[in-house]
Amino acid sequence: MIYTINNIKVTDLAKDFGTPLYVYDGNRIEENIKDLKNSISYPKLSIKYACKANSNLHILKLIKENGLGLDTVSYGEVFLGLKAGFAPEEIIFTGDNTTEEEFEYCVKNNVMINIGSIFQLDLFGSLYPNSKIMIRINPDVGAGHHDHCITGGPASKFGIYIDQIDEAKKIAKKYNLKIVGIHSHIGSGILDVDIFIEAMDIILNEAKKFDDLDIIDIGGGIGIPYYEHDKPIDIKLLGAKITNKIESFNKEYKKEVNLYIEPGRYIVGNAGYLLAEVVNKKKTPLFNFVGINSGFNHLIRPMAYGSHHRIINGSNYNSEKKEFVMVAGNLCESGDIFTKINGEKEPYKIDEIRYKDILVIMDAGAYGFSMSSNYNFRERPAEVIIKDGIVRIIRKREKLEDLLRGME
Ligand code: LLP
Repeated sequence: MIYTINNIKVTDLAKDFGTPLYVYDGNRIEENIKDLKNSISYPKLSIKYACKANSNLHILKLIKENGLGLDTVSYGEVFLGLKAGFAPEEIIFTGDNTTEEEFEYCVKNNVMINIGSIFQLDLFGSLYPNSKIMIRINPDVGAGHHDHCITGGPASKFGIYIDQIDEAKKIAKKYNLKIVGIHSHIGSGILDVDIFIEAMDIILNEAKKFDDLDIIDIGGGIGIPYYEHDKPIDIKLLGAKITNKIESFNKEYKKEVNLYIEPGRYIVGNAGYLLAEVVNKKKTPLFNFVGINSGFNHLIRPMAYGSHHRIINGSNYNSEKKEFVMVAGNLCESGDIFTKINGEKEPYKIDEIRYKDILVIMDAGAYGFSMSSNYNFRERPAEVIIKDGIVRIIRKREKLEDLLRGME
């Protein structure tokens, strides 16, 4: 059997567009958005898509059409968001270690700035007194699928630590900065409702100490299942709890604040697939290796975090014969292995694999292409989207000449 993505055979996609290839299911992206919107019934909710997860211009346009705003972390992402048609007031900028030039870019473009350090607050205030800003707070708790992705707690570089809030307020006063929003993001890949709500509780508690808030931003980080045995987060329960919390906050605060949430992975993660072709098979005393024409330059998550991505043989899906294989990339590093279980390289049981079969690496829509590189001087893949039965190329495959740009 041939595996299909949104009713299109992966072998046809590989034939038409070549491999390696990123494929996105546009209908799935819309369903994810709907699920999230339906789960949080709070009327003044604004979902800001964290575009670091996937920054393809066409994906951003699709997400904008579905009514979301944008969470950005660099002036480049602000530039991209404006290009995609987001209005400045729909964009928020949560930079880290931001330069004066980046601040200037945001101020000129009327994009709300969320500041995460006392030093940078002072710097910003001295440059742009009398502005409206948001501040990012580190609530002293963190969570996430890997140490690299935990952004709260004492070991994290992010946010103004919760015990420095008075100092932040003093600096704001000194420059007549109006703190209109507070923000916290404790980490990424969270599948546990309670952790999320615990962090929200902390931030809401701090929020009471501010007089002029219009915005409470509870960050992103909603996880998706990567392992077969992972249970998806109970999004309805999460939404109901978030709604409850914000409504009781409002009662006490005597104001209907705007609630922001900044998911990246939840919107695009399970809507993306990386297709690669089998080019080699090899036995060693320990393993059966299968070599493909892609590597961690195209999907770094297994290499960077030991992340698990399910892999399917798209050309021989549901075959009777299975084999245990280690899927290896084509880069000149022995860590270039896609099959990871609990952070270690481990063979996966996959439908029998033949030369030129198309392997489908699942759940690659978030932090896939956006973290890709040209390591080993290899071109990055093309990207296509399938929506309502139509397949469209949304980024051309790089050419070697593209890689020479700036060096000639
Ligand atoms: N808001 C802020 C301030 C963030 O730092 C992040 C992610 C998000 C929102 C969106 O998080 P999400 O909903 O996508 O979990 N490269 C890693 C993830 C790094 C996330 C960084 N910040 C990975 O592949 O797992």
